[in-house]
Amino acid sequence: MINHLIVLGGTGDLSARYLLPALAALRAAGHLDDGFRLTAAGREEQDDARFRQWAATQLDRHGATSPADARQAVVDATHYRRADVTDPSDVAALVATDEPLAVYLALPPALFPSVVTALHRAGLPQGSRIVLEKPFGEQLADAVALNRLLADTLPEESVFRVDHFLAMTTVQNVLGSRLANRVLEPIWNSTHIAEVEIVWDETLALEGRAGYYDGVGALKDMLQNHLLQLLCLVAMEPPITLGERDLRDRKVDVLRSIRPLSEDDVVRRTRRGRYLAGRIGDRDVRAYADEEGVDAERRTETFAEVELELDSWRWSGTTFRLRTGKALGADRKEVAVHFRAVPHLPFGHGGVALPNSLFFGLDPEGLTLDITGIGSRAHTFVPLELTARMDPPELPAYGRLLLDVLNGDPALSIRGDEAEEAWRVFEPVLSAWSRGVVPLDEYAAGSDGPGPDGRAGSVRRAATARPRGAP
Ligand code: BG6
Repeated sequence: MINHLIVLGGTGDLSARYLLPALAALRAAGHLDDGFRLTAAGREEQDDARFRQWAATQLDRHGATSPADARQAVVDATHYRRADVTDPSDVAALVATDEPLAVYLALPPALFPSVVTALHRAGLPQGSRIVLEKPFGEQLADAVALNRLLADTLPEESVFRVDHFLAMTTVQNVLGSRLANRVLEPIWNSTHIAEVEIVWDETLALEGRAGYYDGVGALKDMLQNHLLQLLCLVAMEPPITLGERDLRDRKVDVLRSIRPLSEDDVVRRTRRGRYLAGRIGDRDVRAYADEEGVDAERRTETFAEVELELDSWRWSGTTFRLRTGKALGADRKEVAVHFRAVPHLPFGHGGVALPNSLFFGLDPEGLTLDITGIGSRAHTFVPLELTARMDPPELPAYGRLLLDVLNGDPALSIRGDEAEEAWRVFEPVLSAWSRGVVPLDEYAAGSDGPGPDGRAGSVRRAATARPRGAP
């Protein structure tokens, strides 16, 4: 296990909200011992004491589920180093040691090439690992170039292109449910499944993240990585093992089977939008374009929806819809699998039996199957909902992710060829959008999203027919 983690961009939002709390959770679960050290590198001039004070405050705010002694142990294990990551000599000074390091690039993607080049020139100690956050470059050519740089620096198994969704137990549950139950696999194909929706609708707005988000947008922030990874887990052939090679080979097969989108497809099968001012619950939300740090002229989308089809024996004929949006009226974070209607209803009077849907709750967790039953009056159909809850995860997603990095298990990180295939899927969309082929719709914060009927027209066949949880 590697015992020294260096976080470049250690004073940022990712550190505060995810990495520090994850380390506290690892410490509480007994995965980190007293030998563990965290070095946070940032541009600010400050000493260890001041940084530790900041880290303790962030842990109180975001890591309160871990006990106080675990949080304190992480604070005590932390050191601060001032470093300008655009200066190769600062980067070299940070990694000048003999012990293996895990170097986490909690930085804007535009900085990855120069920082990886600096790490390559400095030479990392034997056994070190590099961790990169999404998006992996800003387009396919970047990903290819970055993969080359990384390959010159470290062996592939030491490169962790992380995606914290893959480390979420609710996401793993999607694959687990498929593979551990005989009832699902025989019907897991286009003969029985009409549509799969992979949805991450958030009530959260920009939350002060313009510096990162305005240069990225919803498609590169969520669809190109997190939601596409979910699609892979839903659609992959059963792997022989869950080891890194089998799992990642099967995911690449799915990515390669995604039918390329023509410009005409992009017009018909994609939507993008940006939120206007509005009210979500009891809070007023400013228009995205008026948020601090946003350049309105960039026309960054805060809502993205893309419909994909797979050319494969299993999936030809099923639609996969990926959708995300910020500042929407309700959180809806799930994978919804919509089955086809039964071929024949042997009831004389007709009636409507809604097709089945299976919902994997991503946040909150849960599994729900919508079925049709027969009511107390003979031959009347009633919608029924079967639900199951899961135990809370032992570790938060970033905890699992960091543990895998420190232990050297890359199964849940993205392999280089996978990262390139993911760009291949979305480049036609990004290119057509940049040429204005698809309008940037507007939607009020707190609404259902862009379009005259918000989310309707695209999603929730079963769910719109009967609100979830309704008696
Ligand atoms: C991040 C995105 O990767 O995932 C955010 O950058 C998004 O925009 C977030 O809100 C959702 O995941 P979580 O775990 O924070 O709910």
